[in-house]
Amino acid sequence: MDLSKNRKIIKTNDGSHTLVVPELNEHYHSIHGAVNEANHVFLKMGLDEFMKQKASLVNVFEVGFGTGLNALLSAKWAKINSCNLHYTSIEKYPVSKEEFDQLNYGISVNEIEIYEKIYSTPWNELNKVSKSFYLKKLNLDILKDVLPGGFDVVFFDAFAPNKQPELWTVSVFKKMYEIMNKNSLLVTYCCQGQAKRNMIEAGFSVEKVPGPPGKREMLRARKL
Ligand SMILES: C[S@@+](CC[C@H](N)C(=O)[O-])C[C@H]1O[C@@H](n2cnc3c(N)ncnc32)[C@H](O)[C@@H]1O
Repeated sequence: MDLSKNRKIIKTNDGSHTLVVPELNEHYHSIHGAVNEANHVFLKMGLDEFMKQKASLVNVFEVGFGTGLNALLSAKWAKINSCNLHYTSIEKYPVSKEEFDQLNYGISVNEIEIYEKIYSTPWNELNKVSKSFYLKKLNLDILKDVLPGGFDVVFFDAFAPNKQPELWTVSVFKKMYEIMNKNSLLVTYCCQGQAKRNMIEAGFSVEKVPGPPGKREMLRARKL
């Protein structure tokens, strides 16, 4: 099934946009606020936590590049925290230019420039987006393709387990475990018990941490 064919754009509760996939009845982000959710799950619980190790370069791997919102917020984070990010993101169904042009995250003119660079940067090669943010977008399928390795923080931003259960299996989490460095983190908005058990079986040490607006908890997994 091609999940990119019938996508629609809708507004979330913080005014920011997200995409909806009618075939799965699934949103790309929380309807409680796309920007709020991404800032909490990936930046606060992921990057801020990893920075307790005081790294000057962090290698990030994202599952599901989607609209590029997480990449944009991460580029902002890198600048504010004076930290270099090498951000690798995989996507099976890239967002079209027409869809991208309609997305609105209430961002400043300066950020629009970065966002456009993030979108237009060529696929399958490492590119400099800003002084502290390098991006490699890979048009890959997490289930079928061989992935690069050496990551410190994984943003596991797949569609929910009840919509795409094949992405939340022990074998996918083993694949994540293998591409991650020692003392690294995987964060996801999801808090499902089976997903947690699958992460543990794959080798991770997993904790429940406070979730974004509208969600009590989320999962954070560590490769020790
Ligand atoms: C929740 S959305 C990601 C949102 C994104 N991180 C953002 O900032 O907009 C999930 C993404 O996973 C992608 N996806 C679905 N199946 C995939 C697969 N097998 N391999 C790689 N990506 C996949 C979808 O196309 C979608 O873009």
